[in-house]
Amino acid sequence: MIPELNTDYWHQRWLKGETGWDIGGVSTPLKEYFDQLSDKKIKILIPGCGNAYEAEYLHKKGFENVYIIDLSNAPLKNLKKRVPNFPSEHLLTGDFFTLSNLSFDLIIEQTFFCAINPELRKNYAKQSHKLLNPNGKLVGLLFNDTLNTNHPPFGGNKEEYKKYFLPYFHFKVFATSFNSIKPRQNRELFILFEKKE
Ligand SMILES: C[S@@+](CC[C@H](N)C(=O)[O-])C[C@H]1O[C@@H](n2cnc3c(N)ncnc32)[C@H](O)[C@@H]1O
Repeated sequence: MIPELNTDYWHQRWLKGETGWDIGGVSTPLKEYFDQLSDKKIKILIPGCGNAYEAEYLHKKGFENVYIIDLSNAPLKNLKKRVPNFPSEHLLTGDFFTLSNLSFDLIIEQTFFCAINPELRKNYAKQSHKLLNPNGKLVGLLFNDTLNTNHPPFGGNKEEYKKYFLPYFHFKVFATSFNSIKPRQNRELFILFEKKE
């Protein structure tokens, strides 16, 4: 049985340092994606951000509108310690699924989708679509591996993911990532999905 993956569950994991997913820096596929973006004014959301190395990287490159959200405030405090001038009003402690009143041009995925109860996957696609501006993009990495069925990280594959995302997005890139970090090589898909109207 899957435990309830609520704030308490995640906050305790942060307090106990049970953060095996944390790679200690921006991942190569996302770094390389960010490096070719030219418009630094775009509004970006990183949901289930954890220590948010991607937000740190983007901020240091001059992206001004990077927002991050996590159920636990522990990793948000870590980011603020590492990057004191990261705008405090862009640090959102809360639930991605109930986030409203904000909209974004880009949503970044990395080991958040695999952390939620698989029953919420359809909702993840719907909520991402809702939070994106016209032509907005969902970009990042999804595991293409079986992983666990009773606790995170939960696995999945292309066929399964198509069901969730095709109703809401045009698939611009949906392929095995060629520049994954070593432990994730050939185990993750790079996605670049564009919002359908
Ligand atoms: C597996 S970790 C990944 C963290 C980060 N993306 C990384 O790659 O290092 C998943 C994160 O999502 C957060 N989380 C889980 N459910 C959430 C939700 N519904 N809304 C916002 N954050 C959530 C957890 O607190 C945790 O920090």
